[in-house]
Amino acid sequence: MGIIKNKNDLNKMRSACQDAAKILDFITSFVKPGVTTGYLDKLCKEYLTDELKVKSATVGYAPPGHSPFPGAICTSVNHQVCHGIPGNRILKNGDSLNIDVTIIKDEWYGDTSRMYHVGDQSIQSLRLSEIAYECMWKGIQKVKNYARLGDIGHAIQKHAEEAGFSVVREFCGHGIGKNFHENPQVLHYGKPNTGELLKTGMLITIEPMINAGKRGVKQLSDGWTIVTCDHSLSAQWEHTICVTDIGYEVLTVSSGTPKPPSFIDNQDIF
Ligand code: MF3
Ligand code: CO
Ligand code: CO
Repeated sequence: MGIIKNKNDLNKMRSACQDAAKILDFITSFVKPGVTTGYLDKLCKEYLTDELKVKSATVGYAPPGHSPFPGAICTSVNHQVCHGIPGNRILKNGDSLNIDVTIIKDEWYGDTSRMYHVGDQSIQSLRLSEIAYECMWKGIQKVKNYARLGDIGHAIQKHAEEAGFSVVREFCGHGIGKNFHENPQVLHYGKPNTGELLKTGMLITIEPMINAGKRGVKQLSDGWTIVTCDHSLSAQWEHTICVTDIGYEVLTVSSGTPKPPSFIDNQDIF
């Protein structure tokens, strides 16, 4: 389990997470109609290698049953939920996509993702993305010493379902630190007052995948890309967070991160 034991480690983790967020800032202006997802990946690879001098956690990543992932970013377009492989797909006006990046700096992992909009968007796509962003923050808002994982999951599920959307169950947030994916599993659905206790110093991600239609998903034959079964749009946002005595520290906030929703009082962010 990723847990911070001292100030020095926390500063290293902060720095890794800041660099992950900087990659998402950097790529923003390049996301436009006519570019390929592979081009975005190439730019991110160059930026993280040459400018930030950090390592990609995803290039060559091969959990059991998977071929090595080729990209430094996952690019999941429209009804793709997550783990989209960057390639020769050309982005077109109206597409929405999630870009997810994970890097390793000085042994520590930083993991974050955002939604990007290519040109003009449908009202539905903008609303889905906004609700997914709010869902992530509803989860973050629950984080503090002695809160329980079910509190996070419940807050996310409630917000998504009240909006008429659904929560993907097959993928979850995770502990992180000196490993990419650690315990605990941070489910994006659940019941209040259930599940593992959070403790100060724990490092987790919250990364809800929210579908406009039904929650069912399946994997494409490329062995990685996850899509909605009903072809409905999907949206996801991800932050890496450190649990504190009084709340949370969101480690992957940078200048390009959208402002938290209005229900997050600045006072809440520690
Ligand atoms: N970054 C993803 C996560 O949030 C995992 C991507 S694994 C990859 O956990 F191989 F698809 F890149
Ligand atoms: Co993650
Ligand atoms: Co991620």
